[in-house]
Amino acid sequence: MIQVAPSLLAADFSRLAEEIQRVQAVADLLHVDVMDGHFVPNITMGPMVLEAIRKTTDLPLDVHMMIAEPDRYLSDFRQAGADMISVHVETCPHLERTIDQIHRLGALAGVAVNPATPVELLVDIFDEVDYVLVMSVNPGFGGQTFWPRAAEKIRRVKAMRADRDRPLIEVDGGINDATVAWVRDAGVDIVVAGSYVFQSNHPEERVKILRGG
Ligand code: DX5
Ligand code: ZN
Repeated sequence: MIQVAPSLLAADFSRLAEEIQRVQAVADLLHVDVMDGHFVPNITMGPMVLEAIRKTTDLPLDVHMMIAEPDRYLSDFRQAGADMISVHVETCPHLERTIDQIHRLGALAGVAVNPATPVELLVDIFDEVDYVLVMSVNPGFGGQTFWPRAAEKIRRVKAMRADRDRPLIEVDGGINDATVAWVRDAGVDIVVAGSYVFQSNHPEERVKILRGG
């Protein structure tokens, strides 16, 4: 059974607590997108907002860091309540050290790869990573169209995993009732969905559809 992580990027920021409440009973994780206007064009939220989110829910918080020099902020986000922290391989010249730092802070460590970045870059640190985040859009905005080659990329991560079930494989961007079938077939473990879940009057139903009934 796949896990579903609604992305708060598509939620109404003026009513975050209520939006979280709407998916709380059915979601496995909450996905929180951190953007800096530098690594990606958009700017979203920092540790103070994460701390406020943490107070509203017991769901694990899956923090996706789309920022330059993420090492500088790992401790702040962990203290604010992050349970899982993913960094982009494109932002980390010393990725092994960054992953180690996330582990020392007591969180699960994920590595995200942009569409143009080969997952094979992770081969030498694969065993140290808790989850690989395959981007199925170029990061920065919600509501973009799914990049179809992401499904094949998920298959390649699965092949790297051989007969093990770790690292988990997460996919993010353009997931809806149609595209989820492609990533499910490819063997994904966690799907992130923003607009499909929150731009609906029944977000909890959308989560159930993504999970497969
Ligand atoms: C995009 C973010 C995603 C975003 C996905 O840069 O990383 O998490 O919220 O939004 P949808 O599901 O609308 O593509
Ligand atoms: Zn994300």
